[in-house]
Amino acid sequence: MKNYTTLILAGLVIVLAAVLIGVMVYIQNQPAEVRAIQPLVEIAEMEPDSARWGINYPNQYHSLLKTETNNIDTTYAGSSQFSWLERDPRQVILFGGYPFSKDYNDDRGHANALNDVRETKRLNLNDEDPKHTPATCYSCKSSDNPGLWAELGMEAYDAMSFNEMTPNINNSIGCSNCHEAGTMRLIATNPALIEALERQGKDWETYSRQEMRSLVCANCHVEYYFKGDGKYLTFPWDNGTKVEEIISYYEEVGFKDWAYPETESPMLKAQHPEYEFFTAGSTHYEAGVSCADCHMPYVRDGATKYSSHDVHSPLLNPEEACGQCHTNTDYVVERVAIIQQQVAETKITAEDAIIDAMTAIKAAVAAGNADPALLDEAKKLHREAQFMWDFISAENSTGFHNPEYALEVLSKSIDTARRAQMLAAQSVGDMSLLETGTYYENK
Ligand code: HEC
Ligand code: HEC
Ligand code: HEC
Ligand code: HEC
Repeated sequence: MKNYTTLILAGLVIVLAAVLIGVMVYIQNQPAEVRAIQPLVEIAEMEPDSARWGINYPNQYHSLLKTETNNIDTTYAGSSQFSWLERDPRQVILFGGYPFSKDYNDDRGHANALNDVRETKRLNLNDEDPKHTPATCYSCKSSDNPGLWAELGMEAYDAMSFNEMTPNINNSIGCSNCHEAGTMRLIATNPALIEALERQGKDWETYSRQEMRSLVCANCHVEYYFKGDGKYLTFPWDNGTKVEEIISYYEEVGFKDWAYPETESPMLKAQHPEYEFFTAGSTHYEAGVSCADCHMPYVRDGATKYSSHDVHSPLLNPEEACGQCHTNTDYVVERVAIIQQQVAETKITAEDAIIDAMTAIKAAVAAGNADPALLDEAKKLHREAQFMWDFISAENSTGFHNPEYALEVLSKSIDTARRAQMLAAQSVGDMSLLETGTYYENK
């Protein structure tokens, strides 16, 4: 009889333990809105002040604040604002005639976004000048935006100048850029993202929790352009999000960011297409890994586990960022180093090829007797080669997010640039234009 009681008791303990583990696993797998603790204060819809949200969620708030003072660099990225133009002077030539040839710094933490956009020398704050900077440039820099978009509509927002918008913007990136107050669920907040998905027949409301852990980043970490005179923020995704599909979109709508000096090639500047690049069939994306898995890993505060909102290079905390899935973190970090070195070297090869194409086109234009059809085709290929290179260059992981695709796009860029150079030479029948490195010889 006694034996039975012990057995029943032991059985009960096991069942209870199993139920408890089940509940814990269940809670851990719930989306943010369910796991969030009971709120202390009520947060207004689209509340721009992250400190207010921080009363309820101090760990998330304090980790977000850390992004302001982060300054550690890695081999190819990190959190200081080093100048790309000093590190790679070829980019001064490649962006000739465009503000990026004057000021182009590496990105840093979310809490600095507002200060950094206000301080870049790329701004043109002369509202009388037709080329003045529009308010649209604030779109990815502030937690005030969701409220302003709701109040003004994005069309009216984008039609204002940067100067006119400044008094309305007081906060850098914050909670309201990614979360719905009250429920705390992850949401698409940027109307340009919602509209681009709609035009592709997609509805973010149907996305799984894991998909949302990447989609919130697509509010900002994407390729975009300012459409028409109203500078309407638009993602060029109608034909798809692969680099050729984006180029074909820009071709169809006849868009250019600027004309290259002396050649008038209609150039495109890539922004920061992390989302498009990562989702283009990368190993991690196909395996169901999200941006937040590597950039916002779970960390502990005593008994509490929370998502670190101190978003930065995962190479600074690989045990947290990669260790949840890879047992040998030294090995994967070493793989990152090898991938990035290959991509960085191939990027330079592409830059040299594009500079040769641009130099040959300049010479053909200057000769004055070029076959116009061949010359136009050369300019078109110059535009495409440079956008392909920039797609990889402006994407901030130096190829790691999708290594095979990075090398594929760069090899297409090199081939396209060399074809542009050949056409320029043919257009004036001058085979000396096929030489390489002449840009530097003539300096
Ligand atoms: C498998 C892990 C992983 C995933 C998933 C991932 N990243 Fe990264 N990310 C990295 C690594 C590694 C780097 C390279 C950091 C470096 O060079 O210091 C990086 C670099 C970056 C950088 C530049 C960091 C810096 O210090 O300047 C940004 C921005 C970024 N990722 C955004 C994203 C976005 C947005 C997504 C989803 C679309 C994403 N990442 C998905 C691992 C990841
Ligand atoms: C750049 C987007 C982004 C910003 C900005 C952001 N969050 Fe989050 N937050 C996330 C993601 C991604 C998760 C993970 C959600 C999930 O797994 O369902 C998350 C999770 C959470 C959770 C659920 C518990 C946890 O830690 O996983 C809370 C609570 C939270 N965030 C609060 C905040 C607060 C408060 C702020 C502002 C101080 C903030 N977040 C800013 C993206 C963001
Ligand atoms: C509201 C727009 C916005 C959202 C949403 C957003 N980012 Fe960012 N992110 C930026 C901007 C702007 C910068 C550059 C800020 C600067 O340089 O001042 C940046 C910088 C970064 C950096 C570089 C940090 C460093 O220290 O170098 C990483 C990494 C990053 N973001 C990853 C992510 C990930 C992952 C997500 C989604 C979970 C995300 N971001 C969501 C706008 C955003
Ligand atoms: C959420 C899980 C998860 C996280 C976090 C994660 N990985 Fe992975 N990683 C995978 C999966 C799944 C694969 C596919 C191959 C496999 O099963 O090992 C993979 C593959 C890789 C590969 C081989 C790539 C290839 O094309 O074969 C490298 C390198 C790698 N990861 C590096 C990293 C680094 C560096 C980090 C941290 C910055 C990281 N991973 C974070 C799940 C993850």
